[in-house]
Amino acid sequence: AAAAVHEVTCSAPVNIAVIKYWGKRDTALVLPTNSSLSVTLSQDHLRSTTTVRCVAADEAGDRLWLNGKEESIAASKRLRNVLADARRLRRAAEAADPALPALAELPLRICSVNNFPTAAGLASSASGFACLTYALHTLYSLPLSVSEASRLARVGSGSACRSLFGGFVAWEMGQRDDGADSMAVQVASETHWPDMEALILVVSDARKDTGSTEGMQQTVETSTLLRERIASVVPRRMRQMTAAIHARDFDSFAELTMADSNQFHAVCLDTYPPIFYMNDISRAIIRLVTAYNRLFIKPVAAADAAGDSAPAATSRGYRAAYTYDAGPNAVLYLPREHVTEVLGLVNHFFPPPAAADHAEYFGRAASAFLP
Ligand code: PMV
Repeated sequence: AAAAVHEVTCSAPVNIAVIKYWGKRDTALVLPTNSSLSVTLSQDHLRSTTTVRCVAADEAGDRLWLNGKEESIAASKRLRNVLADARRLRRAAEAADPALPALAELPLRICSVNNFPTAAGLASSASGFACLTYALHTLYSLPLSVSEASRLARVGSGSACRSLFGGFVAWEMGQRDDGADSMAVQVASETHWPDMEALILVVSDARKDTGSTEGMQQTVETSTLLRERIASVVPRRMRQMTAAIHARDFDSFAELTMADSNQFHAVCLDTYPPIFYMNDISRAIIRLVTAYNRLFIKPVAAADAAGDSAPAATSRGYRAAYTYDAGPNAVLYLPREHVTEVLGLVNHFFPPPAAADHAEYFGRAASAFLP
């Protein structure tokens, strides 16, 4: 009889943090120095798609293809850790239930593709490891909740644990040394705030120069500002951001998002040697968003003095919020009603090369390619 085929294909989206993860307290287990919170973008546009397949025992050794090119599994300790964790869990399940097919010891074939530039600060490791984790979770029928499965993705790339959920997702840093409580939880689902959009402004799709692993390590070793951030700033912002999301309060969401991006980049500047992730175009986009918001925001105090409606219900009028990860590309979060206007401004101030396919709009993940 033909052997059953054990193969699974899934896809996973990227996520972009609004409260940033930056710093590890345990590099082997990928345990962070602070909690973080992100928005998972729509799968329709930026995604990884991964197939995992068990092959016959005599086809010894696991193999991986990334975007069609074979990569060395031996060279990636993180990848080996994810595979080892998944196999350990499958082995335990097989020991508990002898009726399960013996898959844990079979070699794996893994094919993964991204439909966007890899390692360019567009969170390709997040969607990639989230996708691999979910594919293995399904292939091995692991008895884990999504949060529990997110611990496997975390070992591959910290931010990946947040892509196991859609919507608004917190990665709770946890307290334990073994990482059992360091995992992702959903703060609100993808339908909670339907008119929230993300615009990705691709300033450069070159590979970044200081990788996040190296950058974090240097920051943990030398930045004094990071200590302040870990001890008091992030715990407070996690509470405020969670409340802002639950209340769909875009003003607070925007203020916190921009403040946290600013502090993340300040912390990078506070290391020695300093790390610069943003470039002149990134900074010009910050000035543009700031000037644009200034046309509309009214300070809460002024609204009160003018006798406007109750302050709690008074919109301060933010139109857009920027955030930057470990690279020069901007992500703007904004209510859908302002997307057309903001893309118009971006294309006016940063005219794209004539041939570029720019300013394409695609719902909670639009992009404009800048020079
Ligand atoms: O998961 P990593 O190692 O790629 O680190 C990601 C770090 C940031 O993107 C800068 C912030 C974040 O929380 O995603």
